[in-house]
Amino acid sequence: MKTLITGSSGRLGREVSKLFPEALTPTHSELELSNWDQVNDYINNNEPDAIIHLAALTSPPKCEKNKKLAWNSNVIGTLNLIETCLEYNPNCIFLLMSTPCIFNGNDPTPKDENYYPDPDNYYGFTKAMQEMIVQGSDLDWIIVRSNFIRYEKYPFPKAFVDRYSNYLFAHQLAKGIKEVLESDQGGILHIVGDKVISMYELAKKCPNSKDVSEYTLEEYYNDFPESSRLTKHMTLKSTIWKIYDINEV
Ligand SMILES: NC(=O)c1ccc[n+]([C@@H]2O[C@H](COP(=O)([O-])OP(=O)(O)OC[C@H]3O[C@@H](n4cnc5c(N)ncnc54)[C@H](OP(=O)(O)O)[C@@H]3O)[C@@H](O)[C@H]2O)c1
Repeated sequence: MKTLITGSSGRLGREVSKLFPEALTPTHSELELSNWDQVNDYINNNEPDAIIHLAALTSPPKCEKNKKLAWNSNVIGTLNLIETCLEYNPNCIFLLMSTPCIFNGNDPTPKDENYYPDPDNYYGFTKAMQEMIVQGSDLDWIIVRSNFIRYEKYPFPKAFVDRYSNYLFAHQLAKGIKEVLESDQGGILHIVGDKVISMYELAKKCPNSKDVSEYTLEEYYNDFPESSRLTKHMTLKSTIWKIYDINEV
């Protein structure tokens, strides 16, 4: 089984790559997804049997500021991968990594796999578009939605007390993705942790992060009035897949 991981240098990609040591892991410059010719040549030359598609422009403020780049990276990039797969290896299994940011963050309801998209920002819009492209394709596809950070020092001095999810750490999610690929499961599924917590509580679970201080969305919007709306409630539930213990690091 020849597996291709896109976005392998990213926060999640580094963990997924460890679990698939034989996988193809091209860098961004070796495989610019928005470049049709480059994607076409790469898929033609390598004919992967499975693609774990993690690459994306992931910062909501950056997506809002540069919609063209976000569209080309996230939407056109996914379309290029799907079309070239259909051309050179239509039996390829395609796993897309998606996000609770496709949902309406003002709605605190824990969303299951069948909940409808209603994104708060352009990043969420591009991720919802990715999902539609994958779902409309003739490939064997899986869409995983989850929310995660790396298990390391929290990267910011402050963390939101009023943005919630049932987060996992990236290495736990990577394990879940491998389990999904090794199962017969297809379609959309949510890989979630067992506790709904704020980002601040999550930060406190990270190593060397005791001095992280509290931050609210209101403070953030005052500090950055031009910012995109950030998704507030990001809690998912699954009617399909098992739940993971976030404390099992
Ligand atoms: N982080 C989260 O909280 C979160 C939550 C839910 C879902 N997700 C989804 O999970 C996936 C991985 O997220 P992450 O946080 O690990 O991402 P990340 O750390 O921001 O890494 C993104 C990766 O994609 C690559 N990339 C970006 N644009 C590209 C393009 N046009 N062509 C080729 N490669 C490109 C980057 O390469 P360079 O760095 O070299 O540019 C990097 O390797 C994404 O699809 C994201 O939407 C993330």
